[in-house]
Amino acid sequence: MTEQNKQHRPRIVVIGNEKGGSGKSTTTMHLVVSLLREGYRVGTIDLDARQGTLSRYLENRASFANGSSNNSIPMPEHRRVYRSQALTTEASEVEDKANLEKAMTELWDRDFIVFDTPGSDNYLSRLGHSYADILVTPLNDSFLDMDMLAKVEVQDDELKLTPSTYSQMVWEQRQQRAVQRKKPIDWVVMRNRLSHIDAKNKRDMGVLLEHLAKRLQFRLASGFGERVIFRELFPKGLTLLDLDEKGTGVTMSMSHVAARQEVRSLLSAIGLDKEEVST
Ligand SMILES: Nc1ncnc2c1ncn2[C@@H]1O[C@H](COP(=O)(O)OP(=O)(O)OP(=O)(O)O)[C@@H](O)[C@H]1O
Ligand SMILES: [Mg+2]
Repeated sequence: MTEQNKQHRPRIVVIGNEKGGSGKSTTTMHLVVSLLREGYRVGTIDLDARQGTLSRYLENRASFANGSSNNSIPMPEHRRVYRSQALTTEASEVEDKANLEKAMTELWDRDFIVFDTPGSDNYLSRLGHSYADILVTPLNDSFLDMDMLAKVEVQDDELKLTPSTYSQMVWEQRQQRAVQRKKPIDWVVMRNRLSHIDAKNKRDMGVLLEHLAKRLQFRLASGFGERVIFRELFPKGLTLLDLDEKGTGVTMSMSHVAARQEVRSLLSAIGLDKEEVST
C-alpha cells in the first residue's frame, strides 16, 4: 500500500437486515449504480456469496454491457467473499476476517465500498456491519417485517418496544466503534415496497417507525414503492438509472420516472448525492 493509499479512506456503506427478501440486493444495486453515475469509483462486496444475488446481478450487467453497442454501462469493481468452511468457530472466524480484509484492501482506492449482506445472522455479516460508516436497512412495509427491528406491544395504553436481535447487534457495533473512537454508524432505515393502495397500513407503519427511530436512533427514509420494474431489471443487470441508455429495450414510462425519483430521493436522504458528499 502506498503512503497516499494509507491516508485515503473510502466510505463504507452496508446494506443490511436479517429479514430475507426485504430488498437489500435491489437497493444495493441501485445505490451502486447511482454512485457510479455520479462519477464515483465504487467497489462492491457480496457477503451473501452463497446466494450471490448481487454477484449475479453484476454478471448479468457485464453480459449486457458486452453485448451492447454503447459502452456507457458503468461497472463497480466486485468481490465475492464466501463464508469459511473451517471446522472450528475460531478457525472460521480468523479465515472470514482475513478474506474480508483482503477484499477491502483490494478495493481501498475506491471512493465507496458497498456491502450486500445476507438475510440471516452470521459472523461474516456481523463483521461487515462493524465497518459501516452508513448502514442502510430496507424494510418491507409490513408489521411482520418491522418485528425484525423491535417487538412492539401495547401495555396500559403505552407502546412497549423491545429491540430485536438485529437492532441489538447494530447497537453493539455502535458501542464498539465508540470504544475505538471511530465515527458513529449513521443508520438509515428505508421503507420498501410501499403500497399505492393501503393508505391506513402505510400511516400506521409510519407512526410506529417514528417511535422506533427515536428509540433505536436511526433516520427514516421514504424508500421505494411496490413496482414491477424492480423485478424486471435483474436479468439484464440494469437499474432505473440506466434506462435512458440506448439499447436497454425498456421504454421509460411515468411510473419508471417516479421510481427513479424515489432512488434519487433515497440517495439524498442518505446524504450520498453529489453535492452533499463533496461538501
Ligand atoms: N420496491 C420493489 N417493488 C417490487 N419488487 C421488489 C421491490 N424491491 C425488491 N423487490 C423484489 O423482491 C424480491 C427480493 O428482493 P431482494 O433480492 O433485493 O431482497 P434481499 O433482501 O436481498 O433478499 P435476501 O434476504 O434473500 O438476500 C426480488 O424479487 C426483488 O425483485
Ligand atoms: Mg439479497
